[in-house]
Amino acid sequence: MESITFHFPAKLVVGGEAFASFVEDIRSSGCKRIFVVGTPHTAEQMEQLTAATSEQGIRVLVDESIVDEPTFENFEEVLARARGFNTDCVVGVGGGSAMDVAKLIAAQIKNRQSTREVAGIGNLAERQTRMICLPTTSGTGSEMSPNALFTDADGQKVGVISPYLVPDAAYVCPELTASVPPAVTAATGIDAFTHCLEGFANRFAHPMTDMLALEGIRLIAESLERACRDGADLDARARVALGSVYGGMCLGPVNTGAVHALAYPLGTQFHIPHGLSNALLLAEVMTFNLPQATGRYAQVARVMGVADGAGEAEAASNGIAHIRKLIEACGIDARLSAVGIPREAIPGLAEDAIKVQRLLKNNPRTVELEDAVAIYEAAF
Ligand SMILES: NC(=O)c1ccc[n+]([C@@H]2O[C@H](COP(=O)([O-])OP(=O)(O)OC[C@H]3O[C@@H](n4cnc5c(N)ncnc54)[C@H](O)[C@@H]3O)[C@@H](O)[C@H]2O)c1
Ligand SMILES: [Fe+2]
Repeated sequence: MESITFHFPAKLVVGGEAFASFVEDIRSSGCKRIFVVGTPHTAEQMEQLTAATSEQGIRVLVDESIVDEPTFENFEEVLARARGFNTDCVVGVGGGSAMDVAKLIAAQIKNRQSTREVAGIGNLAERQTRMICLPTTSGTGSEMSPNALFTDADGQKVGVISPYLVPDAAYVCPELTASVPPAVTAATGIDAFTHCLEGFANRFAHPMTDMLALEGIRLIAESLERACRDGADLDARARVALGSVYGGMCLGPVNTGAVHALAYPLGTQFHIPHGLSNALLLAEVMTFNLPQATGRYAQVARVMGVADGAGEAEAASNGIAHIRKLIEACGIDARLSAVGIPREAIPGLAEDAIKVQRLLKNNPRTVELEDAVAIYEAAF
């Protein structure tokens, strides 16, 4: 068997008590200056944190300036405030945007490397400051992953990937996702689903991650529509949150493929949110991959319950059709034209996508420039 290496948070709390555990752990951590990269959606919880820790002499500063997917410039601004606060513990509370900023702040606050130097795989030299994540979307799985993603000065999506970016602790509390509106629930849920799917149908797939990916696929396929229809359905929220954790556990060891590589330029060139970008391309990339991924896609169909009695090829096609229906049922019109992308943009999108070789190398089928163009055309 090929070897596989996992770097996960040393502490992971999942479930309804996760937020209370987080507060308790901060109280007893010995840390005195907590810098939170947060969002207005969790202001109430941050007030609870402040109230519960003030008698220990702990100061909490919440920064809510990250409102969407961060650039390195956004990151530098928040980093300067974290340095000014002299923080000894950085907390990311939010979606992937807030968590990714928090993760890199904890590493960079005492590090002398520039963002240019740390970009890429394994270039970050150290992290000395404690770092904690609480996801409020389900989600990127950033709380479990060694990745942090930013748009650079050239408008390209850049990954900083390092074991130092795995949080010390992650607290996954499905209740924190209850306020996420349906469109964001749909997009971020499809992102989590895509992490599982691309981790499973992957050139570097491994039995250790297959188990997580298939269970994530099952949970999200079964519950995402419910979570979109009724955000207060905490059972559906919890299942999607778990699926998102499993997807995040696949990101470090196997990572994603062509769906993500082709999705990034939609974000950088047209500001389409990350999850929605994936949703627009998922079924078309699967259709392209099908000849090289039939067996894997048939297994995906089986766990989604749409393969009964079907042979491998038929099951795989059923699976793709089921995923198309799921995306639609979650309220997403999965066409590039529906989000205002002009057809003339396709060659430029394909050119940027093909630069994302760090992910394309994982894809079950090789993607050349003309293939990327054809996939975007099909998704148009
Ligand atoms: N680090 C990783 O492993 C990893 C993996 C996948 C994606 N990403 C990155 O993460 C970013 C996207 O993260 P995302 O999809 O979570 O979106 P996001 O963090 O940008 O959040 C989407 C929207 O939801 C809002 N929101 C968040 N929590 C909410 C809540 N509880 N209630 C109501 N609204 C809420 C946010 O304010 C924002 O407007 C992208 O930059 C993407 O590239 C990172
Ligand atoms: Fe993603």
